[in-house]
Amino acid sequence: MGLELTKEEKEMLEGKHGKATRKAMEIITTLGEIYGAERLIPVSSVQIAGVSYHNLGEAGLEYLSEMAEDGRTRVLTTLNPAGMDMEEWKKHGISEDFAINQQRVVNAFEKMGVVTTCTCTPYLIGNLPHFGEHIAWAESSAVCFSNSVIGALTNREGGPSALASALTGKTAEYGLHLHENRMAQVKYEVKTELNQTDDFGLLGHVIGERTGKTVPYITGISHATTEQLKSFSASVATYGGVAIFHMEGITPNRTTIPDKIEIITRDDLNAARTILDDEQAEIDFISVGCPHASIQEIATIAKMLDGKQVTEGKTVWITTAKPTKDLAMKMGFYDKIEKAGAFLVADACCAVAPLKGRFKGLMTDSAKACYYARGKNNFKTEIRTVEECIKEAVS
Ligand code: F3S
Repeated sequence: MGLELTKEEKEMLEGKHGKATRKAMEIITTLGEIYGAERLIPVSSVQIAGVSYHNLGEAGLEYLSEMAEDGRTRVLTTLNPAGMDMEEWKKHGISEDFAINQQRVVNAFEKMGVVTTCTCTPYLIGNLPHFGEHIAWAESSAVCFSNSVIGALTNREGGPSALASALTGKTAEYGLHLHENRMAQVKYEVKTELNQTDDFGLLGHVIGERTGKTVPYITGISHATTEQLKSFSASVATYGGVAIFHMEGITPNRTTIPDKIEIITRDDLNAARTILDDEQAEIDFISVGCPHASIQEIATIAKMLDGKQVTEGKTVWITTAKPTKDLAMKMGFYDKIEKAGAFLVADACCAVAPLKGRFKGLMTDSAKACYYARGKNNFKTEIRTVEECIKEAVS
C-alpha cells in the first residue's frame, strides 16, 4: 500500500496553500515514500537544527529566505543553537560580518513564525511535548531525550525536514513514530556507580560505541537527574547514532527486554575518559552547557564562581537558552558569573560558534562537546566534572 493523503494534504502538495507549503509537503511525502509510510500524521511540536550561519552558509540562507516568502508555521517551533549570542555576541569575539549574516538567518525563521529562541534543550524552556505525542525534532541530543526521557515520538529529522513539518504540521509515519521500532535490542548492565554529568557522558560514549543504532536497554542506574539524562542523551546519540534508549526504572516507555546482555564497569568508563583526554592538552577554553545548561546548573556554577576570577589567558563559556539566561539575570547568577570574568552565553554553543583557531584546548563536562571540539575546531580536549572545569578556569 502506498502513501495515502487526505484532501488537505493533497491540496498542500498541489500548491493551494502557497509555494513554501508545497515544497514542504514535497519533502514530507518524498520521505514517506522512501521509508514506506502509509500516511502522514500531525505533529504538535518542531525543533529545527541547522541554524548557525557557520554551518548554513549563503546557500542555506537563500533556501530559508525563499521559504520565508510565504511559509508560515502551523505548530510550536523552536530553533537549535545559532553561531552566537544574539545580543551579546560582540563581547564574545564574534565578528560583525558573521553577526549580520546570523541575524539574517534568524530573521528568516522569525518571518515564518518560528519562536526564535535557539537552544538544544527546548524541553527546558517551554517546548515540552508530553508522553505519546508525535513531534518532529532535529537536534540529535534533543531527539534522544524526547523519545527516551519524555516518551514523545520523533525521528531524527534533518533541518529541511523539520522545517517542512513546521510549515505543514505533518510528518510521515515511519521509523520511531511506530511503536515496534522503539523496542530495546541489547541490554547493558551498568556495574558501577555514576556520579556527575561527565560520568553520564562517558557512559553514553561506551554504550554509543558498542550499540551503534541498536536500541539499548540499560539497567543498574538507580537515579538520574534531568541534567544527567540530557548529558547521556547527547553522548549516546553522538557516539552511536542512537535516537532512543530505555533506562530501567527511569524512562517511561514500555519495551520488551532483550536477551543479549553486555556488562559495563568503571574500567569501561575510565577507558572512555582516556580516549577523550588528549595528552598535553593546553587548556585555554572551558565550556559547560552542552547540551544547554539548566537554571539549576547555572545556579551551581554561579556559586562556584562567586568572588573568584577567571585566570588570564582562559576563556569560559557557560552556554544556555535565552529564557534561562534571562532568569539567571533576574536571580543574580549572571552577575556572579560575568563578574568573575566568565561568560553566560545564550543561543549558541562551543560546537556551532565560529571558534576554529581561537583556542588550543577545551575542558568540558560533556563527551559530545569533546567530539565536536576535536572534529570541527581541532581543539585538544579534557573531560572533567563541572567542579573541576570551574577550578581549572580560576586556578
Ligand atoms: Fe547542544 Fe551544541 Fe552540545 S547544540 S548538545 S550545546 S554541541
